[in-house]
Amino acid sequence: MSTVTNILPTSARLARIKPSASGSARERVMQLMREGHTILDLSIGEPDLDTPDHVKAAAIEAITRGDTKYTGAAGTHALREAVVEKYRRENGVTIDASQVFIGSGAKQVLHNAFAATLNAGDEVVVPAPYWVSYPDMVALSDGVPVIAPASAARDYKLTASELDRAITPRTRWVVLNSPNNPTGASYSERELRELADVILSHERVWLLSDDIYEHFHYGKGKALTPLEVVPELAERSLSVNGVSKTYAMTGWRIGYGVGPASLIRQLVTLQSQTLSCVSSISQAAATAALNGPQDFVEHCVATFRERLDAAMHILGTVELLDCVRPSGAFYIFPGCARVIGKTTPDGKRIGSDVDFAAYLLDHAKVAVLDGSAYGVSPSIRLSFATALDTVKEACHRIKSACEALK
Ligand SMILES: Cc1ncc(COP(=O)(O)O)c(C=O)c1O
Repeated sequence: MSTVTNILPTSARLARIKPSASGSARERVMQLMREGHTILDLSIGEPDLDTPDHVKAAAIEAITRGDTKYTGAAGTHALREAVVEKYRRENGVTIDASQVFIGSGAKQVLHNAFAATLNAGDEVVVPAPYWVSYPDMVALSDGVPVIAPASAARDYKLTASELDRAITPRTRWVVLNSPNNPTGASYSERELRELADVILSHERVWLLSDDIYEHFHYGKGKALTPLEVVPELAERSLSVNGVSKTYAMTGWRIGYGVGPASLIRQLVTLQSQTLSCVSSISQAAATAALNGPQDFVEHCVATFRERLDAAMHILGTVELLDCVRPSGAFYIFPGCARVIGKTTPDGKRIGSDVDFAAYLLDHAKVAVLDGSAYGVSPSIRLSFATALDTVKEACHRIKSACEALK
């Protein structure tokens, strides 16, 4: 009689990565809510606003018209042309449709880029703090994430000399994310030029610029993308963006990448053997979002600015937190070094930002993410992509929870 063993097949590739910290946090909050707890959720990474009506109508029309079949692996011509037009209109950059790849969210574009270009041991420079997924995505594609810490004193923005030091003969990509998740910091024109000069001085290094928060900018003028500041990067960069955040369309899963046609062909080959293509209906919706009226974006940013002002007004008075006003995205990333070593009202010692986030959840019923998931501790990430009253109440509770520490 044969014995059936139950050994789960696991690839070495998968064993290198862990579940997304923000995804896990979201599940934890949902579970608490299902159990009947009222949680003020500042852990969210998506706008709470609804997708604009004309975008929804375009999706319904696509269904009615019968646009319900596979599309080309690079995306529909209409959507790629809408991206071409977006770059002309908003960035003053001229590209053509052969330079555009449509993915299932910016996240899938990033994954395809790493999977299509990295070989074992190739390095990718990831400035810290970083969006939680970059290091794992690099590792999944056999690459080595090289974390380059950026200093809090310089708004967590990497300097040209710090970048230069992080580059080795194995470096293939440098990831820049501006405006940044989790810090909200945005690079200035001068800073982008200096970083681009370093990249251009290393022949084999490419720039992966994640511009997903491009439109969430609270300073003067607009947030600048590397490609518009340094056109010479066009031959050696992939700019990643999408409709998720800008048009409140996270669930539609549409992102795009813009790069040299030769690189785009590699991403398309991978797509053709994996996803085949992105949902035809979502692509029709994203086309309408990019080609249609843009007043939603202005409204969204004005709404978020009001929330940011309200949050900073309260958090700025919390003695135990170091809060820098972000210039973009929809996150605040306070340092919480002075909280470490304190004791909670029920006698627990706070030994890390993970403990602090757990304390805020238990004691104040406010969900935040700990900075360790973003590569910089001790700190926490607060999202203001939620209703103004919720933001205000949550910040008041954080203040009271800090005051209750001994
Ligand atoms: C920096 C950054 N890049 C990419 C993404 C993924 O965006 P998408 O929903 O288009 O996959 C996110 C989502 O949180 C993000 O914060």
